[in-house]
Order: sequence, then C-alpha cells, then structure tokens
Amino acid sequence: MKKQATYTKSSMVAHFMRGCTRFFIFSIVMSFINTLLEMLIPQVIRQFVDSVIGSAPFNVPPFVLNMIEGIGGAPYLRSHMHLVAILIGVMALLVALAFYGTNQTNSIAAEKLHQNIREELFAHIQKLPFAWHMKNKTGDIIQRCTSDAERVRIFIAEQMVSVVRIIIMMTLSLYFMFSMDWRLSLVAACSIPIIIGYSAFFHNRIGGSFEKCDQNEGILSTIAQENLTGVRVVRAFGREEFERKRFEKQNVYYTGLWVSLMNLMAVFWGIGDFISGLQIMLILVLGSVFCVRGTLSAGEFIAFLTYNSMLIWPVRQLGRVISEMSKAGVSIDRIMYIINSPLEEDKEDAVSREETDKALRGDIVFDHVSFGYEPDIPVVQDISFTIPHGTTFGILGSTGSGKSTLMHLLNRLYELPPEQGKITIGGVDIAEMKAQDLRRDIGMVLQEPFLFSRTISENIGITDRNMSLEEIRRAAKIACVDDTITEFKEGYDTVVGERGVTLSGGQKQRTAIARMLTQKAPVMVFDDSLSAVDAETDAKIRHALSQSLGDSTVILISHRITTLMQASCIMVLDKGRIVEMGSPEELLALNGVYKKIYDMQQGLEEAEEAV
Ligand SMILES: Nc1ncnc2c1ncn2[C@@H]1O[C@H](COP(=O)(O)OP(=O)(O)OP(=O)(O)O)[C@@H](O)[C@H]1O
Ligand SMILES: [Mg+2]
Repeated sequence: MKKQATYTKSSMVAHFMRGCTRFFIFSIVMSFINTLLEMLIPQVIRQFVDSVIGSAPFNVPPFVLNMIEGIGGAPYLRSHMHLVAILIGVMALLVALAFYGTNQTNSIAAEKLHQNIREELFAHIQKLPFAWHMKNKTGDIIQRCTSDAERVRIFIAEQMVSVVRIIIMMTLSLYFMFSMDWRLSLVAACSIPIIIGYSAFFHNRIGGSFEKCDQNEGILSTIAQENLTGVRVVRAFGREEFERKRFEKQNVYYTGLWVSLMNLMAVFWGIGDFISGLQIMLILVLGSVFCVRGTLSAGEFIAFLTYNSMLIWPVRQLGRVISEMSKAGVSIDRIMYIINSPLEEDKEDAVSREETDKALRGDIVFDHVSFGYEPDIPVVQDISFTIPHGTTFGILGSTGSGKSTLMHLLNRLYELPPEQGKITIGGVDIAEMKAQDLRRDIGMVLQEPFLFSRTISENIGITDRNMSLEEIRRAAKIACVDDTITEFKEGYDTVVGERGVTLSGGQKQRTAIARMLTQKAPVMVFDDSLSAVDAETDAKIRHALSQSLGDSTVILISHRITTLMQASCIMVLDKGRIVEMGSPEELLALNGVYKKIYDMQQGLEEAEEAV
C-alpha cells in the first residue's frame, strides 16, 4: 500500500503546483519581456532628446548604432522624426501584448492551482477518520478550505510573480540609472530600503488589525448562519429581538474595526506619499543642479526621472508583499494541518473483500471491549457478548449509556485500541478487515439520519446510481414510507431539504431505513431509528422488516420495549456496563431494570388506551 506522504511547506506548494508550473514560468518570462520593454522606452526618449533634437553622439550598443548609421544616422532621423514616434508606439504595443500574455497565463496558472488545492483538500478530508471530523469544527475546516486556500493562491500566483517583476524592475532601473549618473542613482537607491522598510513595518502592524477584522467577520456570519439554520428555535422561543440586537452589536463593532483600520491605512498612504515625494523632490533638485552644471544631459535627466517614478510604486508594493507573505505562511500551515493529518488506513495485510463478505455471515463477538473518546474517561467498560448470525439482538439503556458508541466501534468509525478488547465477526478481527468492506456489509440507520439535498430516489438509492425505481420502492414499502412519497406532487423525484420539501422527523427516519435496506447488508443496525414514528407505524415497519430481513443479523437499539420484544437476546446497558442480558422472557423473570422499564411502559400504554 502507498504510504501517506508528509509534506513540508515547500513540498506541499510544489505538489499543488503540478500541472501549472509551465504557465507560471511562461507568465514570468512574459513579465520579464514586458518589464524590459517598459524600461527601454525612457532610453529611446533619452537618445531622441540628446542626439536627435540635440547634437550629442548616440550612447547605444554598437549593433544599435550600426542600424542607426545604416539608415542615415541622426540627420536622417531629424528629418524623419515620425520614425521615432512609430518606434515608441511599436514598443508600447509590445509592452501591452506582453502584459496581456503575463495576465492570461498567470490567471490560468492561478485558477488551476486553486482547483488543485480545493481538489486535494476535499479528497483528503473525505478520507480522514471520523474521529478527526468530530474533533475539528466544521466552520474551521471550511475556513481553511476557502479563505486560507485563497490566500495561498494569491501568494503563489500574484505575490510571487509580482516579486519577480519588482526585482527585475528594480535591477533594470538601477542599472540604467547608474549607467547615466551614479551620484543621483545613489540618492535614489538609498531611499529604496527606507521605503521598503517603512512599508513592511506598517503592513506588519496592520496585519493584526486585518486578522481581527477577518475573525469578527467570521463571528458576524456565524450569527447570521445560526439564525438562518436555527430559525425554528428563534421563532419558537421568541428570540427575534434578542438575536437582532446581538447581530447589531457585532455589526457595529465590526464596522468600527474597519473604520479604524481604514484610518490607519490613510495614515500609511499619506506618510508613504510624503516619503516618495521627498525622494522625487531631492532627485529633481539635484538633477536640475547637475543639468545646469552640464554634468547631466537633458535627455538623461528626463529618462532618470521616468525610471525613478517607475521605481517608486513597485518598491512600495514590495513592502506590502513582504508582510503579506507572513500571512500566507500562516495559511500554508493551516492547510498543511489538514493535508498532513493521518488518513484512515487499513492494515497492509488486511483480509480480502471476499473473506470479509464471508466473515460477515458469521457471529458477532465483542470480547472485553472498553473504550473512551477521551483518555481516562471510559464510556463503555468490559463489554462482552455474542450475536449468533441471523438473529436479532436488542440493546436497551439510558441515554448516554454507550449504545451508539458500541455501534461506532462495530463499523470502525472509531478504532478500538488493541489492548482494549477485540471485536470479531465470523472469527475475523474487524481491525484486520478493510474499513470500506466492513462498512459496506454493515447497514446502519443512524440515530440522527442525514439526507442529502437531492431527490428522494437519489437518497434511497445512494449506494448504486443505477438502482431501479422498483427496487427503491420495494425498500420504501418495507420502511412504510412509500405512501407518503407517492403523495408528494413529484413523487420519488421530490427534492429533500433546503431546495425542496421538508420531511418530518419520522419521514426522514423511514427514508433512512429504506436507504439502508437497499444496501442488502448481512448485518443491519437500527440505532433508535424508530423513535420518531408512532407505535402503530413502528409495529408495521417491524412486521414488514421481519418478513424481508432474510438471514441478516439485526441489531436493534431502542428505548421502546415493544420494539425490542422480537429480539432473541437483549442487552441492558447502564453507564457503559452490561447490567442484564438474556431473552425477553428471561429478563422479565429476572425482575431487574428491564422489568422495571417494561412495567413502566406497559402502564403508560394502558393509561393511553384508557384515555
Ligand atoms: N464523539 C464523541 N466525543 C466525545 N464524547 C462522546 C462522543 N460521542 C458520544 N460521547 C459521549 O459518550 C457517552 C455515550 O454516548 P452514546 O452516544 O454512545 O450514548 P447512547 O447510549 O447512544 O445515548 P442515546 O440513547 O442518547 O443515544 C456520552 O456521555 C456522550 O457524551
Ligand atoms: Mg445513541
């Protein structure tokens, strides 16, 4: 079996970039061409001013000089000035084309990268153990997959490319500037670290404020989301006004945060503009002096000023990018937490699918099983029982006594540590089976059934997309939900949930039972799955089920004694321990907990009948 890779920051970024590296490289090359051409235009203007309008000799590389001489030199250009204008126009067009190429390829690369990140995260999360999902908050996982993924995309696609562009721009500008006048260049160069430092310092300072704004936006949307999903509770308890005020308070606080952040930003831009203005002024004054003294030509001065103003913006950007990079570092760490979380893995020498299928047609044995979700807080202790194949086994117990926990262990949603007992089916330890094979053979109707916001037939036939409607209906009939579904206007094509009809608790439970029945598993678990249906429907479903279960092993968990009566053996749990176990008749004769609950429920039923 392939071992799960553990990523470092850089190897994870490289992994995400697969398939889009060539686009990034192309975009960087285009960006280089674009910057180079942009940088050459002031040189053309400089030569034009000094050597075409003025009379200084051309100061260009020999091959360019040869070309100029070839067409007739400065005198020819002086009488055909439009040629220079055309040259600048062509260069500007090339700059635009290269700019287009940069953006085009960069956006392909960026979107492909984003797609890779989303795909990778989703696929990984799907394979993470159930315990991991229980431990991590859904909101936080979503935040990591959206905001953090977006920040990493911006970092790799936009910031890294702009850093390359800024560095090329700075190098070329400084090269051209130094080639014209080293004293003036020194002044310009000295201001660069000051501007970068100031910008980075400021962005670091406001980074915290941005994070606070992000967090508070999260709180605000959580309040809104809770109110939307919990609208029934809000209405039922008349909490509209309270919730409105709570939202308003957070909204005011959030707005205040942005206002003070914007104030800070205004100060930043103001001071930044002032520093850049000072630098430009210094160059202007010094340049003018040099010009008057004749150590700098007019063309050089114009080119110099152009380079200087071209330099200022990227330099200021660089400061921002540097501070943004630290934020991206945090996001990469947050994504790495998911990507490096260990996947649910089967043993290397796990038994084959056929062997599992065969074993699942054997007895289920819990052998001295103890388990707790948190270390040192046991939930079930020393549980031992055997369910012979093909029989119905009932579990009764107060809430929180560990019934669902035992089922979580049975289909390995939680792994049982080896020293805490053993669960075998057909003589094979379930830890030796592949989790997927095991779960395919254990049909579970969970205590809180979840239906997807899809059609009813899609929900019931979830295990097989090609399941026929007859098969789906057969299962629905056994679960006593077919009549209800056919009454809907769109029948089995009715969409459930947010986009469609809202099913009642009992309808949902019965749909979930139908879904499980289509699985045709040799072991079926009903975890309190009939709690939301009335006693009569409960009896009807049980009757229909007993006719169709065949030789499946059935585990019934219920608080209702009547539901459990058909079981050949019932286990009574209390605070994670077995207190009684036996056939319904044996348990009645024991005169213990079971008998007490039995008497209580019988009494209630008689009282109901009397009414
Ligand atoms: N994912 C979990 N993490 C931590 N503790 C849990 C988790 N699930 C359940 N528990 C705790 O384990 C104990 C047993 O829970 P379990 O769901 O097994 O009870 P139950 O017998 O099925 O109860 P009910 O009849 O109410 O469904 C409870 O105290 C519960 O708080
Ligand atoms: Mg339960």
